[in-house]
Amino acid sequence: QVVSPGQILEGVLLFQAVVENWENISNFQARPDDILIVTYPKAGTTWMQEIVDMILNDGDVEIRMRAPIHVRVPFLEWPPLMNEESGINMLSKMASPRVIKTHLSFHLMPKSFWEQNCKLIYVARNPKDSMVSYYHFDRMNLLKTAPESWEGYFQDFMQGNVTFGSWYDHVREFWEARKKHRMLYLFYEDMKEDPKREILKVMKFLEKELPDDVVDKIIHHTSFQMMKDNPMANYSSFPETIFKQSISSFMRKGVVGDWKKHFTVAQNEAFDEHYGAKMARTSLRFRMEI
Ligand code: A3P
Repeated sequence: QVVSPGQILEGVLLFQAVVENWENISNFQARPDDILIVTYPKAGTTWMQEIVDMILNDGDVEIRMRAPIHVRVPFLEWPPLMNEESGINMLSKMASPRVIKTHLSFHLMPKSFWEQNCKLIYVARNPKDSMVSYYHFDRMNLLKTAPESWEGYFQDFMQGNVTFGSWYDHVREFWEARKKHRMLYLFYEDMKEDPKREILKVMKFLEKELPDDVVDKIIHHTSFQMMKDNPMANYSSFPETIFKQSISSFMRKGVVGDWKKHFTVAQNEAFDEHYGAKMARTSLRFRMEI
């Protein structure tokens, strides 16, 4: 059941089912203690979902083994795709504080999140690794038409012609808005470089204090290898008819700089030129390697 290519809404390519459910999504009623995890796809969303869930549960490993991450931290605009009961209903039944994931662009976010002044954690990842990760994800995500070629995907990504739209617009819009809202803006590369430092930032933002040994436990259980081996974090509970992980694992490599194995020299030059023009007027900076 292929749901892409989808439809453009306010300049952003979205799944058809998301557009069809748009009234429900945009009228979503937030609660003041909702915590949002917002990313452009493949920025380390699942990693942050696991970190926040573990922090809120005081590092309780048992809790995180009870249900898959997409159930513990649901995807705001996802459930309609699964033809389940409306995702909005599922979310309204959740106990507070709810942690909710979304890939929506800043200008598409339900207004209620701003009215309720919810806390928002944004994770950004450098565009080259995001593109490579998204390419492999789209190969194994059977809800979408598989990319015809790496070169075609490379062009589509730069033009924002992929689900959830332009990477450039996404990361920039949230960056420009970060000081006007209760937002913690983090980077995948920083998380890889020093997970403890970034996890402590998240704890501070969530006003949560935990003993050192619990923090160490959270670092350990949210490491790439632990999450890759954890059926509640690696999406192996998703049917193979949706995520065909024999094509490419959801927990694929989890490194910074894998783009070097994919970009040709010519592609890299073309990308850098395009990137320079697109990002010229922002203070937002990315590290392509660490
Ligand atoms: P790769 O495809 O480069 O391996 P998202 O959760 O936003 O869909 O992002 C998925 C990407 O984050 C994948 O990148 C995945 O391997 C990586 N990832 C998931 N958990 C991680 C972890 N604990 N540490 C590092 N990277 C992780």
